[in-house]
Amino acid sequence: MEDDPYNEIRFDGDDLPPVYRFAPERVFWTGSFSKMVAPGLRLGWVVLPDGVAPHFIKAKQSTDLHSNNLSQYMLYHYFTHNNIDEHLAKIRAAYKLQCDSMKEMIRKYLPDEVGMTSPQGGMFLWLTLPDSMSSEDLIGSCIEKGVAFVPGRSFFTSGGGEQHIRMNFSNSDPETIEKGIKIMGKEISACLAKSYNFAV
Ligand SMILES: Cc1ncc(COP(=O)(O)O)c(C=O)c1O
Repeated sequence: MEDDPYNEIRFDGDDLPPVYRFAPERVFWTGSFSKMVAPGLRLGWVVLPDGVAPHFIKAKQSTDLHSNNLSQYMLYHYFTHNNIDEHLAKIRAAYKLQCDSMKEMIRKYLPDEVGMTSPQGGMFLWLTLPDSMSSEDLIGSCIEKGVAFVPGRSFFTSGGGEQHIRMNFSNSDPETIEKGIKIMGKEISACLAKSYNFAV
């Protein structure tokens, strides 16, 4: 099962082929309209190996009866009245700008001990906190000050991940990103100072 909702919002580097291309007889290639058009429609798509569709449709029907007709009409209308390639080019450019600005602000306001990834697409980048810190210690005070992120633990099925933070850059303009990262910088520095005081 290839879970591929971000393929269309790659803004840097070469286009990567889906795994499906290498083994179309064995891969269920799935994607979502959430990241391309609107998450509220709750619609996605799947490309299946030959012969699988009748079984897949039965399994889907027994799970959700069918996908929402109104959402399907809305999406159909959207695709027949808009140019999706133009729209994708627009959001890719916006996400690149916001990602670059988040990276710049992280280097400016977060302590050097905090690591970060440099994504080539999608909506998120990841931070890694120093060993002495957990993202769980940070989330409460950041939310109180109006900044939210997803603590890494939510993404690890067998425990761990506390040092990691998932940051979203698709939802805010550069000015808002700067405000948010500044707040995080203060909170992280305060946490680090506390853990340093503990250690000495
Ligand atoms: C990796 C991945 N797969 C699938 C989805 C599902 O998207 P949706 O349920 O909105 O179609 C998401 C949404 O965040 C995702 O991050």
